[in-house]
Amino acid sequence: MTTTGITEPFGSHAAPAYPTVRTGCPLDLPPLVGELREERPGARVMLRDGSRPWVVSRYSDARQALRDPRLSADLHRPGFPFVSPVQKLQQNEDLPVGFLRMDPPEHSRQRRMLTQEFIVKRMQRMRPEVDAVVESLLDDMIAAGPPTDLVDAFALPLPSRVICKLLGVPYQDHDFFQKQSCLMLDHTAGVERVLAAREELRDYFDRLAAHKASHPADDLLSRLIAGQEVPGHLSHDEVVGMAAVLLVAGHETTANLIGIGVLNLLEAPDQWAALCEDPGLIPGAVEELLRYQTVIPTGLPRLATEDMEMGGVTIRAGEGVLAAADRDPCVFDAPDRLDVRHPVRRHLAFGFGVHQCLGLPLARVELQSALAGVVRRLPRLRVTKPLEELNFRHRMNAYGLFELPVVW
Ligand code: HEM
Repeated sequence: MTTTGITEPFGSHAAPAYPTVRTGCPLDLPPLVGELREERPGARVMLRDGSRPWVVSRYSDARQALRDPRLSADLHRPGFPFVSPVQKLQQNEDLPVGFLRMDPPEHSRQRRMLTQEFIVKRMQRMRPEVDAVVESLLDDMIAAGPPTDLVDAFALPLPSRVICKLLGVPYQDHDFFQKQSCLMLDHTAGVERVLAAREELRDYFDRLAAHKASHPADDLLSRLIAGQEVPGHLSHDEVVGMAAVLLVAGHETTANLIGIGVLNLLEAPDQWAALCEDPGLIPGAVEELLRYQTVIPTGLPRLATEDMEMGGVTIRAGEGVLAAADRDPCVFDAPDRLDVRHPVRRHLAFGFGVHQCLGLPLARVELQSALAGVVRRLPRLRVTKPLEELNFRHRMNAYGLFELPVVW
């Protein structure tokens, strides 16, 4: 029997518990999604709250799901799949959730307010600034000398500083907002703590936005207030919700990919050596790491608003869907092998369709700059603990590492 346990009956089919823990190598995905793809590319799984959404695990189905307007991203719809019970708390709140969990036309209206802020050209113009942050963090690390925690000294502060600068959030508050966003993404944190964290982050942005209204500066939050809140296109609460989404989305995923990306490369010394020898491989290596070590491995959640056929099954209106497919062998040659020399850019790590990551151009600039800086300045980098002793983020929405102890 496979690890899915899908030979056991559950109605007409088994519904294996989801998400599963990585019991093998922490850099490999849990085998469940791969097994489902082979055996039942549209399969029901059982979430912790007892609900049974479908996982679509073929690349073609996942891609189709993410661009299908019949699948909603609105978390307020009954039946919306929440991988973690604490995330489900948002369903009962009246507060604006941010456009990530909205549908068009409101989603498009709000997203349009930000597209100019994140266009590729603008983000590429930020490259020197991002490079300067990378250099300064590496200067500090090298000056302090080994050993150090690469997550704390580099992977987390880099995207945090960049998104703070862009938004107009004082970086000195990073301890506060990193703690709140960590709690909000923790599947195992108690309800009270998650609610309190969300409330505190909102209060923080409420005060910051009020301050920006009377003291505008050259930052995204000030532009949002002047351009959208003042003329009445967005309420104050919506501005606050949007700012919180940007801050959390803008540093958690990137930080985790930097940490676990470096670890993956160090675990495959030929790949690390290839990058040290030929930095021209770095843009491709970033895409390969995004595909291989997708930081939201549980899949992107949607809700069917009509009956539809997908993954060889009929999905009924009101049923949840999770799209997870970056290791599909039909699309990626040797999908379970990291290969920086043969990257494939059409991965789904940034999602697809109307919700495709808005910060994608910024994330690429940050990831490329980070990796280039680390291989150039720390070519002898190595991890001081064996894989099994490292603290992986098994219980978090965004997978990665809590710490990465290194020397060089
Ligand atoms: C490694 C880095 C990143 C990864 C892997 C990533 C991944 C994703 C994914 C998968 C989605 C789609 C979610 C869905 O369809 O349900 C998304 C959406 C989003 N991301 Fe990112 N992201 C990254 C970095 C960033 C950065 C730096 C920002 C900057 C602010 C950002 C802002 C957003 C926003 C605002 C959305 C919502 C877009 C919408 O709903 O229209 N992300 N991201």
